Amino acid sequence: MSQGLAHGLEGVIAAHTVLSDVDGAHGRLVIRGYAVEDLAGHTPFEQAAHLLFDGFFDDMPADLAPALGAARVKVFAEVAALDEALAKRDPVEAMRALLARLPDGDDLSTALLLLAAPAVFTPAVLRVAAGQTPVAPDPALSHAADILQMTRGQPASDAETRALDAYLVTVCDHGLNASTFAAARVIASTRAGLTSAVLGGLSALKGPLHGGAPGPVIDMLDAIGAPENARPWLEKALARGDRLMGFGHRIYRVRDPRADALKAAVRALSGASKALPGRVAFAEAVEQAALQILRERKPDRPLDTNVEFYTALLLEALGLPPASFTGVFAMGRTAGWIAHAREQLAGGKLIRPQSVYVGPGVRQAA
Ligand code: ACO
Repeated sequence: MSQGLAHGLEGVIAAHTVLSDVDGAHGRLVIRGYAVEDLAGHTPFEQAAHLLFDGFFDDMPADLAPALGAARVKVFAEVAALDEALAKRDPVEAMRALLARLPDGDDLSTALLLLAAPAVFTPAVLRVAAGQTPVAPDPALSHAADILQMTRGQPASDAETRALDAYLVTVCDHGLNASTFAAARVIASTRAGLTSAVLGGLSALKGPLHGGAPGPVIDMLDAIGAPENARPWLEKALARGDRLMGFGHRIYRVRDPRADALKAAVRALSGASKALPGRVAFAEAVEQAALQILRERKPDRPLDTNVEFYTALLLEALGLPPASFTGVFAMGRTAGWIAHAREQLAGGKLIRPQSVYVGPGVRQAA
């Protein structure tokens, strides 16, 4: 390893932020002064977005909900450009193509269109791919209720809306994760505009080591099928060199606090569903088997449950298909990307690290 090189920028501090504090040693996440478990389940997403944006835009209304509802309606006009071929692509790729149609800008109206975009485009992409007509947004509904209605074509219950709010709030910001660093720090530092930043964030989020993990968590649970299969299945996966999806984190050396916030949200939904308690008990059995095997196989590397494990269960319980999971993650995280981009613009400098050349010495051109 070259002197001074931090692989994966591990341990490198690249910004000061007032937005969120990720305490990996103690398993704590604080968002603008509030513990994540106190925000999730108690705060609608619009309020969490307001909390993140506060101080970064001059013209912030006291309540973001009406402006965000109007932004959903405006963004829906772009769905006309969604043809069947595009809808059949990976849903994040299709959503990214629609998002790229939005103009760049740094103001609040651009920010609200971007915040609305994944919420409107993801349901539309899924419906068109399934041969259904996209459902237009209802600006009078809350953001979470409207997302569920646009996806499923029928109104959501209050409990379901609360559960989706809990999810969106839980993932709205998380320090300098890969997508936030790419989007809201590197791209924003070039002053390219918020749309360019959010497009970069979405592209980084898509990867299975980041926001692409919860779909594979469902695949893993389905492949395991029953608690007694968990250990042999997981052992085989590790022997193949696979990573267990929903476990491990760059910063947390203990349990990701978001996993428990989401587990609480899943439990709150359990009363309304006959199948859910059994599914949760099965997932917990798989989780325990995975934690035990990871402890045995990687004794020097504390690997615990991350946010994606219970994300998968919660979104599944809300009737959202695995193909939507990364898009739903983006619905929440866009708020953080935008706030970090504004914070970067306010005080940051062009991000331009250095590399150490390890290629061949200077040669004569032929
Ligand atoms: N399953 C099995 N082994 C793992 C896992 C896992 N989930 N996570 C890390 N490891 C192992 C690695 O194989 C490596 O072992 P080695 O040293 O013997 O080669 C060691 O732990 C360290 O791995 P790194 O990639 O250096 O650890 P890092 O902390 O950078 O990785 C990451 C973090 C990418 C999230 C990783 O834990 C992982 O791939 N997890 C599975 C995918 C996942 O759940 N992603 C979602 C993360 S949360 C989020 O982004 C919102």
